[in-house]
Amino acid sequence: MRTYRIVLSGLGNVGRSFLTIMQSQATLLARRYRIALRLVAAADSGGVAIDAGGLDPAAILALKQHGRSVAALPGSGTSGISPVDLVRRIEADILLEATPVNLTTGQPGLDAVRTALRRGMHAVLANKGPLALAYAELAALSDMGEDSEERGDPRDWPALRFSACVGGALPTIAIGRRDLAGATIVRVEAVLNGTTQGILRAMEQGVAYADALAEMQRRGLAETDPSLDVEGWDAASKLTILANAVLHRPTTLADIHVRGITGLTTADLRAALARGERIVLLCLAEYRGDDVHLSVQPTPLPLTHPLARMSADEMGVVYYTDISGRQSATTLETDPMPTAAAMLRDVLDIARR
Ligand SMILES: NC(=O)c1ccc[n+]([C@@H]2O[C@H](COP(=O)([O-])OP(=O)(O)OC[C@H]3O[C@@H](n4cnc5c(N)ncnc54)[C@H](OP(=O)(O)O)[C@@H]3O)[C@@H](O)[C@H]2O)c1
Repeated sequence: MRTYRIVLSGLGNVGRSFLTIMQSQATLLARRYRIALRLVAAADSGGVAIDAGGLDPAAILALKQHGRSVAALPGSGTSGISPVDLVRRIEADILLEATPVNLTTGQPGLDAVRTALRRGMHAVLANKGPLALAYAELAALSDMGEDSEERGDPRDWPALRFSACVGGALPTIAIGRRDLAGATIVRVEAVLNGTTQGILRAMEQGVAYADALAEMQRRGLAETDPSLDVEGWDAASKLTILANAVLHRPTTLADIHVRGITGLTTADLRAALARGERIVLLCLAEYRGDDVHLSVQPTPLPLTHPLARMSADEMGVVYYTDISGRQSATTLETDPMPTAAAMLRDVLDIARR
């Protein structure tokens, strides 16, 4: 039995779902993989709790349910310690990062992930901000760096995993990097923002924009700052990560043409339907010669298109390739649990590396 010492930064919708999964899947992990996860530290905006012997996920969940910080955990909680301070001092194997996206500074996630990788700790991210702003830097500190003689065996580097960053549990990254190995991807189309997909499908049914957004927030599916969803920047962050990790094209947010859904009306959506089309917030990577054009914008697709057939709670990706045909995947997610499950699959990927 191997035990992995886990640090969980961010105890919101995703972090709490991960704590629930740690409890519900413990027997499966032990039986199937002979792996145990020990939570040695957890952080939220009020502070941290630390216990090398293992914190009780149920006790943290109970505190959070009452709106309190993990700093209030008797015996192990402390206020005034930031995630990066925690990562500097803690002895652990894997950092799980689930704090809010900040597309200006990347903080608090960026410094925590940098520090973890520099200390030789693996990192699993649900927060896409650090990768959208600093993919090349973080990849170079980890096993995601481009292969070279000087770097040697990738397994000698700490692992960086982020499958939860690109469409919840949708296996966007695994399909692109693993399943299409040997092929050339010539085009990618994807719907990677669940909040706007939910809003657009609700508006088609006559629900007002503000009510549709409020419902996605109530279900814990919207970003902490929902303008990132509706103005297209969450989707653009995901496309940035996909372009770097799957298309191997050094990309930053500035390379992406971005337009959100705030200008759309119910009439626009219904007019499209009457023409036999459905408007989605489409992430597109389109090769023009050797150059890749990257965009996020509301786009009408024929109703027969795999991404136009999706319901309100679905996200999807379509890869067009030279030798592997057209590969499509969709995911149906009604709450943040599948995102936490994507973090777990990344932890297992690291454990089985
Ligand atoms: N929700 C989803 O379905 C989903 C899906 C895919 C990816 N993600 C990503 O997962 C991440 C978390 O999302 P979420 O929905 O769980 O967000 P959330 O509910 O807003 O939770 C954010 C957590 O981070 C903590 N936090 C905020 N600022 C902090 C700081 N400066 N230092 C330490 N902790 C801080 C908050 O503390 P308090 O508890 O004290 O407020 C809270 O526990 C985001 O990056 C998001 O993009 C979310």
